[in-house]
Amino acid sequence: MKILITGGAGFIGSYLTNLLYNEGHQVFVIDNLSKQVHGKEKTKSFLYQTIIDKADFFEEDILTSKSLNSLIGKVDCIVHLAAETGTGQSMYDISNYVRTNSLGTSKILESLVKNKNTVKKFILASSRAVYGEGKYSCLEHGIVYPVARRIEDMRKGDFECKCPICNNEVTALATDEDSIIFPQSIYGITKFNQEQLVKSVCNSINLPYSIFRFQNVYGNGQSLNNPYTGILAIFCKLLLENKEINVFEDGLESRDFIHVTDITKAIYLDLKSHQNFQTYNVGSGKRTTVIEIVHMLEERIISTAKHRISGAFRLGDIRHNYADVTNISKLLGFTPSIKLDDGIFSFIDWTRLSESDPVSNNYKKSVAEMEKFKLYYNKTNS
Ligand SMILES: NC(=O)c1ccc[n+]([C@@H]2O[C@H](COP(=O)([O-])OP(=O)(O)OC[C@H]3O[C@@H](n4cnc5c(N)ncnc54)[C@H](O)[C@@H]3O)[C@@H](O)[C@H]2O)c1
Ligand SMILES: [Zn+2]
Repeated sequence: MKILITGGAGFIGSYLTNLLYNEGHQVFVIDNLSKQVHGKEKTKSFLYQTIIDKADFFEEDILTSKSLNSLIGKVDCIVHLAAETGTGQSMYDISNYVRTNSLGTSKILESLVKNKNTVKKFILASSRAVYGEGKYSCLEHGIVYPVARRIEDMRKGDFECKCPICNNEVTALATDEDSIIFPQSIYGITKFNQEQLVKSVCNSINLPYSIFRFQNVYGNGQSLNNPYTGILAIFCKLLLENKEINVFEDGLESRDFIHVTDITKAIYLDLKSHQNFQTYNVGSGKRTTVIEIVHMLEERIISTAKHRISGAFRLGDIRHNYADVTNISKLLGFTPSIKLDDGIFSFIDWTRLSESDPVSNNYKKSVAEMEKFKLYYNKTNS
């Protein structure tokens, strides 16, 4: 197969490029090697280095790509990964997120509509962010979908989601693909926008598609320069730098962590399958609290750093979310193979050995930026 991967030099993209290359496929990559992901010296980027001789590489922006029209005339499939990916950052860098994620996707789709092409499938990387808080259960009202948490509640240290009908506390359930779409961040809005664009255009030109809603992806190679994504990477780096970890909220907020090789396995299963026009959650199906992550790292890293449960919070963050993975298991036969307990070990080793700018500087800057735009609350500014 010939496959075009947008964002193919990124975290997930570089793993996918390597997997497809090793399986004997021809890979084409369009990626602008963005500074936030690849650092100042982009050609020295760890991720980029891993794909250099595995793909035909075009250092281009998807919004202005000159090669796109000719590439769609020779590839069998497009995997669209290129995106801005920071939930917190999306809350103030709004036009950039809409431009890259929504307009960027529209450019690729428009090119498919307007030009003769050989593409037989379009795969989109979406996100669990489209669900917002996701699916919950209320003792009185059964299944409910909470709205965004109230700033007044969170200032008082009350972080749990409430029933939208009776305002009582609710219990998180695994979110399935039929759950209500209710994004709480600009990032989530643009990811859903991408889904709508893909569905609408692909249906109109009868081009099969698959949409993947990834949970929190982690693994070696994850950008350590980017302070906006991946708490696992940020916390791990802070411990190695002997810098304090500021644990937001009460530390009991939870996420569903899935290893990057499981993500690429899911995409590859889809490429080989006959399933089309489907939307899949991809996650471990398990919840891990943020404080559990901190403890897992602290047990494995010798550091003088302490963690501090600060009660601080960011607008746009959700409380809990974990995936119901029944659909992908049934339709693609997918089961995740790497347990967080195991994946975290090699992740720490990799972080220890990898060169990157100190995350503490970038991280502090990112929090200060959110504070400036009144999107970050702590005890002193609330
Ligand atoms: N990593 C996660 O936890 C996660 C979770 C849910 C969804 N996703 C989605 O998966 C996809 C890949 O995520 P990732 O973690 O590999 O991100 P990443 O930031 O590591 O990679 C994105 C790549 O896209 C490139 N890029 C950005 N803007 C571009 C543009 N305008 N033109 C060309 N290239 C551009 C970047 O240089 C980078 O190499 C994204 O669409 C993201 O929204 C990721
Ligand atoms: Zn209720």
